[in-house]
Amino acid sequence: MIGRHKHCIALEDFSREEILEVIDLAVSMKEVLQRPIKKVPSLRGKMVVNLFFEASTRTRSSFETAAKILSADALNWTSSSSSVTKGETLVDTAKNLEAMRPDVLVIRHSAGGAPRLVAEHVGCSVVSAGDGAHEHPSQGLLDCFTLREKLGTLEGKTVAIVGDVSHSRVARSDLHAFPKLGAKVRLCGPPTMMPAGVERLGATVHTDLKEAVDGADAVIMLRIQHERIGDPLIPGTREYSKVWGLNAKKAADWLKPSCVILHPGPINRGVELSPEVADGPRSVILDQVQNGVAVRMAILYLLAGGAGEEARA
Ligand code: CP
Repeated sequence: MIGRHKHCIALEDFSREEILEVIDLAVSMKEVLQRPIKKVPSLRGKMVVNLFFEASTRTRSSFETAAKILSADALNWTSSSSSVTKGETLVDTAKNLEAMRPDVLVIRHSAGGAPRLVAEHVGCSVVSAGDGAHEHPSQGLLDCFTLREKLGTLEGKTVAIVGDVSHSRVARSDLHAFPKLGAKVRLCGPPTMMPAGVERLGATVHTDLKEAVDGADAVIMLRIQHERIGDPLIPGTREYSKVWGLNAKKAADWLKPSCVILHPGPINRGVELSPEVADGPRSVILDQVQNGVAVRMAILYLLAGGAGEEARA
């Protein structure tokens, strides 16, 4: 369990204490990841099934890596080589895989609400690895972990999230999590990519990038989620990049010296981020990826009922 939760589906449901429970545990999980022998017996005999209906590089491999470091067995399932291609439904697929007695089902799906629907039909824990434009809770948690690691605390800090906010499940999870840890959130992007009513969650909305990043402690750049957009929402990527992309000159002129840059990946280089910024000294993007393993170890440990304090060491 994570606090009161058997599942990890949406950070909207998580309290400050529940977020801290995961990221505090991820600190010791990260220490395990630094060892020459990256293996602890905490989840020996447990099984994790990764059920991905959408492509993934970071999330799927980090859940698999996390499970293996904790000695759980990991089964990777992909829709393209499954009986979904013969018309099997999401719920039937999940129930059939659950019949093989996994402890945790990790699911990524293009439909918002798919992990919650699965959770209503299976007995094991369900973790959302991203559902449509709804939420990506493990990414939100790893962003919290990375920001705390780099900034010391989120209390009183300002985080600007820039780009296609309305189609970003990462932005939505971050937006639910950061204010609970005391950070202020600024959202910035084209007006057509800004969801309605976000001010209600405490965020301020900006269309001017310079204004949004002024004095910010961290900037999270987002890619345009072309796969979730029907009609074009911007004149073109060149125009978008000019106005909302971050290059070396804008970073040098507009960001305060200590400001760090995050991106959930995959990066569209030259659109939202220039290569100099993505690979530059402010970038903590690969730290996010490594922290993703530690945070997912913590999530799996808490949900699969790890074998006690001593097994974490
Ligand atoms: N951040 C993220 O979800 O990356 P992937 O799509 O590669 O998993």
